[in-house]
Amino acid sequence: MNAPAEKPFLYVVVCAAGIAAGVGELIAAAQERNWEVGVIATPVAMGGFFDSAAVEARTGRPVRSAWRSPSDPRPFPAPDAVVVAPATFNTVNKWAAGLADTLAVGTLCEAAGLGVPIAVLPCVADALAAHPAYRDSLARLRGMGVRFGEPYSGMPDERGVRAAFPWAGALDLLQTR
Ligand SMILES: Cc1cc2nc3c(=O)[nH]c(=O)nc-3n(C[C@H](O)[C@H](O)[C@H](O)COP(=O)(O)O)c2cc1C
Repeated sequence: MNAPAEKPFLYVVVCAAGIAAGVGELIAAAQERNWEVGVIATPVAMGGFFDSAAVEARTGRPVRSAWRSPSDPRPFPAPDAVVVAPATFNTVNKWAAGLADTLAVGTLCEAAGLGVPIAVLPCVADALAAHPAYRDSLARLRGMGVRFGEPYSGMPDERGVRAAFPWAGALDLLQTR
């Protein structure tokens, strides 16, 4: 009997937005779609924005946030695809500018050059999204082939209802084009 084929490996990059607490929903949806998942979080996101122990239990891998030591082996295989969810104003702008000062942004800067599909679900307040640097960043990243979900501010509407964050939509975006 043939050995089962290896699953494709998905990097999930998590930034420090309040909505990050729900990232388990994305991981579960990805695993249901046969992805092996490794999570890379920004250092700020590691400061209580999501339950990293629960994510480690669910993925069976450490959550990465810092660079490895040069003598350490690479903890994750190379990615077959990358999802950034939630993506913050800060990380989107640094990524577009090529400022690789965190493992998360460094990984994103490299991923575009690897040619793997990259899907992004921003969570950025309307007031921040109006900043011209952010608009330029989106245009630059789109020009690199990065796929973006609909704008999501995380703010409740006039009835006090906050729209659901489209976690699984990131996986659909990976399949477009
Ligand atoms: C409770 C809380 C919620 C936040 N939510 C957001 C958010 O939804 N979007 C965003 O762009 N920044 C948000 N921020 C600000 C970011 O955490 C901050 O800009 C941080 O530097 C982002 O770091 P990172 O991009 O490296 O994760 C939030 C901050 C706090 C304290």
